[in-house]
Amino acid sequence: MLFRIVSTRLIQNAKFISRSFSSTTKLNAKVTVCGASGGIGQPLSLLLKLNSRISHLALYDIVHSPGIAADLSHISTKAMVTGHLGPDQLRAAIEGSDVVVIPAGVPRKPGMTRDDLFNTNATIVRDLADAVAQYSPKAIICIISNPVNSTVPIASEVFKKRGTYDPNRIFGVSTLDVELDVNQVNCPVVGGHSGVTIVPLISQCTPPVSFPQEDRDKLTKRIQNAGTEVVEAKAGAGSATLSMAFAGARFTDSMLQALAGEEGIVECAFVRSDETEAKYFSTPLLLGKNGLDKNLGLGKILDYELNLIKAAMPELKKNIQKGEDFILKG
Ligand SMILES: NC(=O)c1ccc[n+]([C@@H]2O[C@H](COP(=O)([O-])OP(=O)(O)OC[C@H]3O[C@@H](n4cnc5c(N)ncnc54)[C@H](O)[C@@H]3O)[C@@H](O)[C@H]2O)c1
Repeated sequence: MLFRIVSTRLIQNAKFISRSFSSTTKLNAKVTVCGASGGIGQPLSLLLKLNSRISHLALYDIVHSPGIAADLSHISTKAMVTGHLGPDQLRAAIEGSDVVVIPAGVPRKPGMTRDDLFNTNATIVRDLADAVAQYSPKAIICIISNPVNSTVPIASEVFKKRGTYDPNRIFGVSTLDVELDVNQVNCPVVGGHSGVTIVPLISQCTPPVSFPQEDRDKLTKRIQNAGTEVVEAKAGAGSATLSMAFAGARFTDSMLQALAGEEGIVECAFVRSDETEAKYFSTPLLLGKNGLDKNLGLGKILDYELNLIKAAMPELKKNIQKGEDFILKG
């Protein structure tokens, strides 16, 4: 059983990798990575350089980005790579982009929560979102920078201020929570992206799995704590970077497929949502030519999972409010 589950995920990932190398391209996209020189940014940019749907990969950072771009440009795949260093070159990096991926900002160290990153990362995401709102307001934004529960509301408020807000185009990338499931099954993870706000819907796993309640509880807590496990294992040297780069590249590829008109592309992400009383919430989403096409909602869930969602609400709403206040009252 375990082998079957593992191989299902491996097959899905192998499909993603072969898609990335595939020569059938319906879209010549410009993709910008903001924070391209970081622990996530570098492997993410490498994976995106292999994606044949991308014709221009623009790498922005406040350090080292011209060097990273020069290095990647020696890989013999289609995408032209340009490096952009510092705020003066941000506009050129962003203008004309179809998708802007943001892994810029400081990561956690052991003992830190994602919320502890707020003070530094809120400003970084605000300024990058403001540049996108001005120079490429129709771009899809995929935010990796933590705390995602607050950085997505921050970006949304920035777009509202600029009068270019479209809730269907701003996504918090929470798919690492899906990837890090200990059993490697494909499991929707809903809610937010920190601690108790991460809610795995084990009852909706494919292939279906069945656990005694005690094991379901242990597995749920392990998934909620998966990112923290990596932070602790790296013992001060950073948080999940390689797995996050893969999750980010996979999410970007799904978005590019949907933008190119492919149907039936579904990903979980943290977006503006009416599914619960929280203004932003992660659920499975059908992606389309304009970003979010249809929110597929929570579906049928167990009482146990409903209670997890209820327990997540106070923290989630607080994180969202904090992000909104940063722009509205800051
Ligand atoms: N969504 C998730 O599941 C998930 C998982 C892991 C990490 N993260 C988050 O991703 C972020 C990046 O993590 P990392 O390990 O790559 O960190 P890192 O410190 O290795 O890299 C961050 C990069 O951002 C750059 N940067 C800083 N300020 C910038 C600015 N104003 N404009 C552009 N670039 C700027 C830095 O120069 C650096 O290259 C962190 O906030 C981390 O918490 C999210």
